[in-house]
Amino acid sequence: MKKKVAGQVIRNEEIAPDIFSMWIETELAEDAGPGQFVGVFPNRESTILPRPISICEVNADKTALRLVYRIAGKGTSELSHMKAGRRIFLLGVLGNGYDLEQARGKSAMLLAGGIGVPPILQLAKELSGLEGMDSERIASEINIVVGYRDSNSFLLEELQQYGNVYVASEDGSIGTKGNIMDAISANKLNADLIYSCGPMPMLRAIKQFAEDRDISAYISLEERMACGVGACLGCVCKTAKVDHHSHVNNARICTDGPVFEAREVDI
Ligand SMILES: Cc1cc2nc3c(=O)[nH]c(=O)nc-3n(C[C@H](O)[C@H](O)[C@H](O)COP(=O)(O)OP(=O)(O)OC[C@H]3O[C@@H](n4cnc5c(N)ncnc54)[C@H](O)[C@@H]3O)c2cc1C
Ligand code: FES
Repeated sequence: MKKKVAGQVIRNEEIAPDIFSMWIETELAEDAGPGQFVGVFPNRESTILPRPISICEVNADKTALRLVYRIAGKGTSELSHMKAGRRIFLLGVLGNGYDLEQARGKSAMLLAGGIGVPPILQLAKELSGLEGMDSERIASEINIVVGYRDSNSFLLEELQQYGNVYVASEDGSIGTKGNIMDAISANKLNADLIYSCGPMPMLRAIKQFAEDRDISAYISLEERMACGVGACLGCVCKTAKVDHHSHVNNARICTDGPVFEAREVDI
């Protein structure tokens, strides 16, 4: 069930220019999975709408969440100033998340660009089965391709614990010069299925790549969100099929997504 709860900031640090990592002690960690997100209230008095931020990691005993965020405006800037010990309000857990069972016994390729990288970390951890004592390996092979603007990368070393990591950068300063599609061809990578998160041009290229090979691709869509719980219809995307409730080709990214099978959405 979605609820608004108070948590406590454990740590909040800059891990790359304008990119922050925040660990929060919260009961929401108990039910949080990869690809889901929380609504973060940066400052309870002055910022009414929660900011949607993906779950980057859940700690082993499920008492804390890690969020990795880029300073984009007022809300995320306020977040970056929060110190350890500060109370923080969260709405969650929101969204559907990635379907891990689809990867059972398969070769999975995890594709992420820029601030789409954080949710891939918890996903890689769970697919690899290296997240805790009781966890089992799900995917038979994990290839992770991440793209950055330049050498200011983040989360790279952590991702390397869970799969083979390939890097692309727009300026060529690290990895393959270009985008993640360039890194896929340079390294001759293939997969049984794809999980991805990143900017829209990247998601369109992935949808095409998956259709050409007739494989499933799960893409995480991003849209400006107000309520985050399906009430305002501020975050709809176009779907291939007609929704049987509303009789239109629409889905709400905050509740029906943010993760969709690429064939289901018109992007
Ligand atoms: C499902 C989902 C997961 C996300 N995960 C992450 C993440 O892990 N790390 C990260 O850095 N960013 C993430 N974002 C983007 C993040 O929500 C925005 O950067 C953030 O809301 C900007 O808030 P602001 O107050 O700093 O900017 P402002 O521009 O001042 O925001 C004004 C309003 O617009 C909304 N808004 C602005 N940009 C976005 C956006 N791109 N998406 C949704 N709402 C927006 C804000 O929530 C706020 O209500 C995610 C977005 C979505 C939809
Ligand atoms: S943000 Fe209100 S319906 Fe999705």
